[in-house]
Amino acid sequence: MTQTPSRPLLSLTPVTPTTTNRHGSRSRMTCFFRCGNACDHAEPNRTDNGHIQDEITKAVQRRSVLKGAAVGTGAFVVGTGAASGGLSAAAVQPARATSGDLATSPFKAVAPNKRDAVTVAEGFTTSVVMRWGDRVVAGAPAFDAAKQTPEAARQQFGYNCDYVGVLPTGRDEAVMVVNHEYTDENLMFPADTYTPAQIKAIAMSNHGMSVVEIRRGVVPGDWRAETNLRKAKLNRRLHIETEFKIVGPAAGDERLMTIDDPSGRSARGTLNNCAGGSTPWGTVLSGEENFNQYFDKSGALDARYTAQYARYGITGTGKGWSEVDSRFDLTLDPHEPHRFGWIVEVDPMSPTSTPRKHTMLGRFKHEGANIVIAKNGKAVAYMGDDERGDYIYRFVSAEKFDPARTAKARRHNLTLLTKGTLSVAKFSGDGSEDGEYDGTGQWLPLCTDTTSYVEGMSVADVLIFTRLAADKVGPTKMDRPEDVEPNLVNGKVYAALTNNSNRGKPELPVDEANPLASSMVRASPGAPLTSASGNRNGYVLEMTPVGGHAASRFTWDLLLVCGDPAAAETYFGGVDKATVSPISCPDNVTFDNEGQLWISTDGNVLGSNDGIFRVPTQGPLRGQVRQFVTMPRGAEACGPLIYDKNRSLFFAVQHPGEIDGATFENQASTWPHTDDFPRPSVVVAYRRR
Ligand code: FEO
Ligand code: CA
Ligand code: CA
Repeated sequence: MTQTPSRPLLSLTPVTPTTTNRHGSRSRMTCFFRCGNACDHAEPNRTDNGHIQDEITKAVQRRSVLKGAAVGTGAFVVGTGAASGGLSAAAVQPARATSGDLATSPFKAVAPNKRDAVTVAEGFTTSVVMRWGDRVVAGAPAFDAAKQTPEAARQQFGYNCDYVGVLPTGRDEAVMVVNHEYTDENLMFPADTYTPAQIKAIAMSNHGMSVVEIRRGVVPGDWRAETNLRKAKLNRRLHIETEFKIVGPAAGDERLMTIDDPSGRSARGTLNNCAGGSTPWGTVLSGEENFNQYFDKSGALDARYTAQYARYGITGTGKGWSEVDSRFDLTLDPHEPHRFGWIVEVDPMSPTSTPRKHTMLGRFKHEGANIVIAKNGKAVAYMGDDERGDYIYRFVSAEKFDPARTAKARRHNLTLLTKGTLSVAKFSGDGSEDGEYDGTGQWLPLCTDTTSYVEGMSVADVLIFTRLAADKVGPTKMDRPEDVEPNLVNGKVYAALTNNSNRGKPELPVDEANPLASSMVRASPGAPLTSASGNRNGYVLEMTPVGGHAASRFTWDLLLVCGDPAAAETYFGGVDKATVSPISCPDNVTFDNEGQLWISTDGNVLGSNDGIFRVPTQGPLRGQVRQFVTMPRGAEACGPLIYDKNRSLFFAVQHPGEIDGATFENQASTWPHTDDFPRPSVVVAYRRR
């Protein structure tokens, strides 16, 4: 892969303000800080996998227009209204309502807006549960933006919260586990206060995860962090210095041996933790996503790993962290990046337990992992590799889940992710005649814990360099798979395919599962729609296992072709487009107890702030997207979670104020308005009393 010209290491210098965004509304700052400008690079998947033949492609494009036109006439008029919040009065979902129940309460969709606020549907309200800098462990110093240190950061709530997991610990208590994906140095640090090395060290320590005990508030659905930290025995910060055990078949492999750990069985720290999931045995899984961007080089790169580094986007153009810790210098330690890119498992109930990195679940830009127990008792994890043109994966455990509530059963269940079969998904379209984007699919096995199915690659090769293994078996290149999550009510699996500006280019032709080579966007809620190349608004893919979650086949369809309902290419499960909210760039998904889908977005290209949406998955309102909440300026919505019998919606407000040109002294957001700078925070929404 060609390297882009090297850019200077991170410094206090703000990113050059621009008048335009890079990819729709995604700010240049978000691209730079979160994923190391991944989109400036050609997508690392250079294989020709996943190209369904041209005839189907053309037919699909034709039909896309036809289908849009079929429902588009009325939708155009009302859809324009929808963009300013005017949904049809007939659209009230669902019919049955229980007071305070987020799944069954009807609500008026929140209109697209650019407010610097969390705007929740009428009748509901929100509380901030934890903010960046809030004390996590007893003895942590109070946050002071002018007195940040790495040591303090490792005891406080980290930056840019993403995944939110909540596990009950009692009737009125629970433990919340949160990812801290990345940092935005432009917004975090006052000018002339820190040296560049201090900034790097503090930013490093703001990555990781937090475990925080919470308790029920006075109003049903409200939850607050336990403020008596001496009582909060489960509270914990996992950070860049935390020890992780590397487990599974590749543990101890030579490629995992580093200067820091010559055994190849442990890793120090976790990085770029994006989404995740909680397991039926009471742990939390977290995905290490854009880990490639943290590594510098002081000289040449190890020629043994040229292809591997390229496939993972590891260029040696990092964030200058090697100035703080030499393990981030690839020239000195070519194996250090192999300790990242895994699914990590944290046991929040055991604050002294060593968290683990699971080699059996493969190494790629893990968005997250979500578990369902198949009817044959096996634990099945669904996973996305979030890169343009990368794949959807599945792991099936070798052993069965033990549902007993005993210590012995839990010990057994904690081993489930160490042995099994890792597979990658191939999608076949069935053509356009049926008026649907749909077809059949197949899980292509890559390896078990003892056997590789990939020619020329050992089990350890497959697990450490999973992308290269998958390339060899012919899976389908997808439009940035984010969350891939089983719906326990209807047994289907939902994947957010967030967007892909390259789809439709010669190297990445459309297919029935990734059908759009162009899509409609708008600069602001009132601006006209204009056409942009590629898939800009994303899809929600629905997979239906054939023969259970552990079987090798499935059928699939696109439940949503996201965008503005006024755009002909959009599709909302067949429901009247006049009744839906515009939605752009689905990212994280979750479900309520009724099996409805809740979707958070990242990077709205329809001129509005990001938000969270409720979508019925069955019945006459299937596909009826309604916006429940919008985020503050510059923020994306992450980690939605319905909790407490549908009374509470937890979510993370990530990177508020991350708008080009913003600096600590000149912020674009001050949300949650407790300071004169923004603080990424976890929020809970519930019925107002
Ligand atoms: Fe961190 Fe794939 O979003
Ligand atoms: Ca079809
Ligand atoms: Ca995400």
